Amino acid sequence: MKVNGKHYRTIWMNNKTGVVSMIDQNELPFAFIIHEACGYRDTCHAIVSMITRGAGAIGAAAGFAMAQAFCEGIRDEKPARREQKGEGYSPEQLAFFERARKSIEATRPTARNLFYATERVYQAGLVSAEAALQQAQALADENLEDARKIGEYGSSLILNGSRILTHCNAGWLGFVDYGSALAPVYIAKEQGKECFVYADETRPRNQGARLTAWELQNEGIPHRIVPDNAGAHLMSRGMIDFVIVGADRIAANGDTANKIGTFEKAIVAKEFGIPFYVAVPFSTIDFSLTDGTQIPIEERSEDEVLSYSGPDAEGIIRTIRMASPGSHALNPAFDVTPTRFITGFITEKGIIQADELLKWKTS
Ligand code: MRU
Repeated sequence: MKVNGKHYRTIWMNNKTGVVSMIDQNELPFAFIIHEACGYRDTCHAIVSMITRGAGAIGAAAGFAMAQAFCEGIRDEKPARREQKGEGYSPEQLAFFERARKSIEATRPTARNLFYATERVYQAGLVSAEAALQQAQALADENLEDARKIGEYGSSLILNGSRILTHCNAGWLGFVDYGSALAPVYIAKEQGKECFVYADETRPRNQGARLTAWELQNEGIPHRIVPDNAGAHLMSRGMIDFVIVGADRIAANGDTANKIGTFEKAIVAKEFGIPFYVAVPFSTIDFSLTDGTQIPIEERSEDEVLSYSGPDAEGIIRTIRMASPGSHALNPAFDVTPTRFITGFITEKGIIQADELLKWKTS
């Protein structure tokens, strides 16, 4: 996607320097800054602190972090051992890679793409650090390609004048490019269709108000930010034609973990007979889980609920407490929408029903 006329991916890695660069999503929409992570620990920190976020972008970041760990693990080796790389690592190196893998996997426990990417790059890295780098880059390219196909299939649902509700940010910032829930909107625009997007603000971190709104504005898509609790009202007044959300992890039966608040939208949509779609690549589906009760739900700091951040008149970011002093908060980052509320999954293989997911699983 383009920002100020220049094409960007959300996250990328320079194989020569080992540096992972990413659009700093904590700075948006107030500043457009590229953050650089020089080692795998820096990249882990970027994932935990949500400098990069969103299921697909987290997956790409995790793959790059794992590749960085392999490069770091061979960097300090004596030349003799370095030449052997690919033929056998020392026990210390293997322990280092394993520790790195565990640290990466601990960053955002709900995001399926994180585990998917780490596993693939880890297996490649056991052959050589070079193979790890290639695998991480291939994963990032696949991430982009899947998102583009999701956009193409999903755009068939969009008519001129469609009004769509979305939750959180599942746009191109949440992937390497295009996004999941917003990809159909972007492709529909390329096809000359005009639609309108209602973006839930998405408390507590406001990914909708900050990121989705910024993306839509950047892409010239008409939109309004709406309070998280406005969905039932909008749907009851006939203002929404359908809902599209992304996903962080999907169980084999179609139960879907996505940003907290998604489940409520799905219940309301069903009440009003409004189609509710989940846009997602197959890499987000965890076929080892039979249903959504097995999906681990990340809990984040209560500070995200109790306070609010934004720029003051001088543009300096300030954080203020907005809750009653002395009260504590609970901050589950995701909820699980049972499959019966989901009209269909918009995937890179087409728009499919929950009971067809297993049939489409190839590898
Ligand atoms: O902002 P996050 O990483 O906590 O939230 C994850 C998400 O981006 C959403 O749940 C999104 O809808 C999934 S797909 C990008």
